[in-house]
Amino acid sequence: MPGALIAFEGVDGAGKTTQLAAFVARLRALGLPVRTCAEPGGTPIGSDIRALLLRPGASIAPRAEALLFMASRAALMDAVVLPALARGEHVVMDRFFLSTYAYQAGGRGLPLQDLASANLFATHRVVPDLTVLLTLGEDHSRARRVERGTSDRIEAEGRAFHTLVDQAFREYATRAWQHAHPEVGPVLVIPADAAPEVVARRVWDHVMRVEGMTERLGVPRGMPAHQSSPVAVRPRSR
Ligand code: TYD
Repeated sequence: MPGALIAFEGVDGAGKTTQLAAFVARLRALGLPVRTCAEPGGTPIGSDIRALLLRPGASIAPRAEALLFMASRAALMDAVVLPALARGEHVVMDRFFLSTYAYQAGGRGLPLQDLASANLFATHRVVPDLTVLLTLGEDHSRARRVERGTSDRIEAEGRAFHTLVDQAFREYATRAWQHAHPEVGPVLVIPADAAPEVVARRVWDHVMRVEGMTERLGVPRGMPAHQSSPVAVRPRSR
């Protein structure tokens, strides 16, 4: 059976990367084969595209920016994600479809329909089995962004841009939006305004409760969360 494709999403500072690492460590502790990928990047051409996209001060038109993200995604799908899934490995992505919607549609104002088509073109119409969307309260989100500073071109965008991205993710967390956008696959919303360990437990418990997910991942039935979780959560240092 092909592996499962799971994406972690959320605003800058929501703790995505930390939570992804904790989730993957739990799967690996169960002996399951898992690959992780972060977008943009993950291939030689993807790394070059990433450098172009994030270089501070670069001027990139919004459609060019969107297509560069798509080019990196297409390269990653062909070289890494699709072969891994075909071998039966699970793939856990740090950012995917929803980031394009939030940053390029929400933030830049590009038409969502065009981005949806480009996404499916880039992925050969492969849609995530699940997207874990980490959410923060508005104040919390702003505070974490300030804490993290602005080291790349997108982080350095003004407050208005990040507010739009934030609002977009908030909208994607609603059932109404998800119902209207089946093309992104199922979305699981996890509030992330808590200690990393608490959020990690929430993520694991909720993912395991998604219908058919334990079978899909190959997690043994009836495994209590604490037995499958010998892994400490370490926030990422930047
Ligand atoms: P990165 O340092 O990888 O982000 P983070 O640590 O926040 O995940 O930088 C990636 C940036 O690119 C991030 O600000 C989000 C943005 N992005 C888009 O604008 N569109 C996309 O499709 C993707 C995947 C990322």
